Amino acid sequence: MTSGLEPGLLSQPNKIEAAERQFSKDVKAGLSAYPKKLSSKYLYDKTGDALFQQIMQLPEYYLTKSELDIFQNKTADLASTIGKGPFDLIELGAGDGSKTIHLLRFLTERTTEFTFMPIDISGNILACLTNQLIAQMPEISIRCLEGDYFDMLDEAVKISKHRKVVLMLGGNIGNMNKDEATAFCRNLFQRLSPGDMVIMGFDLKKNPATILKAYDDSQRITAAFNLNLLHRINRELGANFNLDQFEHYQTYDPISGDCKSYLVSKEKQQVKQGENVYLFEKDEVIFMEVSRKFAPAEIEELALTSGFVCSNFIFDSKGWFSDVVWEVPAY
Ligand SMILES: C[S@@+](CC[C@H](N)C(=O)[O-])C[C@H]1O[C@@H](n2cnc3c(N)ncnc32)[C@H](O)[C@@H]1O
Repeated sequence: MTSGLEPGLLSQPNKIEAAERQFSKDVKAGLSAYPKKLSSKYLYDKTGDALFQQIMQLPEYYLTKSELDIFQNKTADLASTIGKGPFDLIELGAGDGSKTIHLLRFLTERTTEFTFMPIDISGNILACLTNQLIAQMPEISIRCLEGDYFDMLDEAVKISKHRKVVLMLGGNIGNMNKDEATAFCRNLFQRLSPGDMVIMGFDLKKNPATILKAYDDSQRITAAFNLNLLHRINRELGANFNLDQFEHYQTYDPISGDCKSYLVSKEKQQVKQGENVYLFEKDEVIFMEVSRKFAPAEIEELALTSGFVCSNFIFDSKGWFSDVVWEVPAY
């Protein structure tokens, strides 16, 4: 067994400083732009991780339940799709691994030879995930990689001596607009080799009211999750956002499949952060996150334009979500 957080940020102070500088740079660029925007990857600090775990438990947030249905009830299909060991199972944006754990247990019980390499920008959630996995499956081989997707995927590819199976679950790919997702999948393809495989989670287009409710919950946890990023900017970058002066607003466009989160300034106001001053008009918005929904044909097109062969759709019992298998073909 191997386990640990390497070679990510936790053990490397110079990488922590670089990440802090990048956060500051991205916030300045985003709040100086029109329309104002913040990158959703910064939603996941310790409080953000905990709020996202609460979101996953919300009755309205069907995504986790749908994908859990696949990972609990179609585990054998997933395992037979992946095939025999040895392989390295690399998960991009692993979060708390609450769905992946079912596949890991299935593979471990069958003594399949594999190493699990979860990648996440949040060191906090990786530590939670590692503790849980080691407690439940002490025999598992884990290499955690803390940092941005491709920085850490490059590390994983360097470490990996085996066939690679890349998981990207939940709505992670949906958190990119169409061009970003295409560029992301092309970059992913370039780092893989024939015989490698991707299993990507896609939230499917469905009744628009069902989708909108999932991101606009009655307990206002999604609102708190978005507002927490302003709190993080205050705490880590010394800004003076007044959280009471912003409110969460959610939209869903059933044609494009874009479900978008915004924070709306309730008043005309200015926010200071160091020497930077950001002016907000009354009702001006900050774009926070897109959570795109897909039709199966759009998923096939994304695979094709990135170089992959789309070989299987594994659906949940309601047909609301699919984990889709993409293979890297032999040339
Ligand atoms: C919506 S959560 C989903 C977590 C998990 N995939 C699931 O399905 O439950 C997104 C996760 O991706 C991570 N993440 C977001 N942007 C990232 C990036 N650019 N690089 C690495 N991890 C990222 C977040 O920290 C968070 O844990």
